[in-house]
Amino acid sequence: MPDNEPLPAVKPLPPGDHYADIQRELDVMIGLDNVKSLVYEIYAMLQVAHMRSEAGLNSGAHVYHMIFKGNPGTGKTTIARIVAKLLQKMGVLSKGHLIEVERADLVGEYIGHTAQKTRDLVRKASGGVLFVDEAYSLARGGEKDFGKEAIDTLVKAMEDMRTQFVLILAGYPAEIDHFLLTNPGLPSRFPIQIDFPDYTVDQLIQIAELMAKERDYTLLPQSLFKLRQHLMQEKQMSLFSFSNARYVRNMIEKSIRHQAVRLLTQYSNSVPGKHELMSIRPEDLKVDVPVNGSGRKDGILGS
Ligand SMILES: Nc1ncnc2c1ncn2[C@@H]1O[C@H](COP(=O)(O)OP(=O)(O)O)[C@@H](O)[C@H]1O
Ligand SMILES: [Mg+2]
Repeated sequence: MPDNEPLPAVKPLPPGDHYADIQRELDVMIGLDNVKSLVYEIYAMLQVAHMRSEAGLNSGAHVYHMIFKGNPGTGKTTIARIVAKLLQKMGVLSKGHLIEVERADLVGEYIGHTAQKTRDLVRKASGGVLFVDEAYSLARGGEKDFGKEAIDTLVKAMEDMRTQFVLILAGYPAEIDHFLLTNPGLPSRFPIQIDFPDYTVDQLIQIAELMAKERDYTLLPQSLFKLRQHLMQEKQMSLFSFSNARYVRNMIEKSIRHQAVRLLTQYSNSVPGKHELMSIRPEDLKVDVPVNGSGRKDGILGS
C-alpha cells in the first residue's frame, strides 16, 4: 500500500472505557510501578491490535502466557486476577476467571492420573486464566516424577487450546529461573515475564494503613512506629521466607482480634466510643522478640 493512501477509518471499540476499572484496581495497590506499566502495555497492545484489525492491518495472533516472579505476598495472585479481567474486557478471554492451582492439584498418584487431573483443571480454566503457583515444584522430582507429566500436559494444552486459556506460572524468582533453565523449551512459550519486587518497609507500612482503613480501623501513630520497628527486624531476619504484604495482612487481622479482646475487657460495663472501636493501639500489635529467624512461619506471632 502506498504511503500516502489514507487508511480506512478506525471504528471505535464497543462502548465503555476498557481500562478505567482496571486502572482503579491498580491505583489502590501500593508500589508495583513496573507491574502497573506492564499491565498498561498489555492493554495498549490489545487496544491497538483492535484498531489495526479494524483498519485491515495484520493484528497478529498473540500469545499471552506469562511468568510472574516474586517472593510470597508480593501481589502475584492479586495482579493475575486483574490481568484475567483485563484480558476478558479486551476480548482475549471469554470469561476472565482465575483458577489457582499448585503441584498437589495437578499431580496424581498413578500413571495417567496426572494428565487427567491437569486436563480437568485446564478445562475448568477455559475462558480464563490457569494460575500455577510455585510452578518450579513440578520439576522437582526429575524425569520419573509425575510433575513432568503435568508440565507436558500443560505444554500440550497451550498448543491445543491456544486461544482458550492463558497460563500464568508463578514462583520465587530464583526457582522460576532455574525451572526455565532446566526446561529449555519453555521460556519462548511465555513472552510476558513480570518481576514482583519485595516491598520496602515504607511500602509495607502503607499497605498496613490501607488494609486497616479498608476494614474501618486506624493504626495510631505509636502503633505505626511499633509496626515499623518490627517489620524492619522481621524483613532482615527472614530474608527468604518473609511474606511481604501477606505478613502484614496477617498482622493486621491478628491485631484486630487482640483489639476486640482488649475492648471487651476494658469496657465490661460500658460501650467503647467510635474512636476506640477504630483504634489499633500498640498493645494490640503483639510481636515476639524473635529468638532466631529460622523455622518461623509467616504470620505466627507471639501473643
Ligand atoms: N501492592 C499492594 N498493595 C496493597 N495490598 C497488597 C499489595 N500487594 C499485595 N497485597 C495484599 O497482600 C496479600 C497477598 O497478596 P497476593 O497477591 O496473594 O501475593 P502473592 O500471590 O504474591 O503471594 C493480599 O491480601 C493482597 O491484597
Ligand atoms: Mg499467590
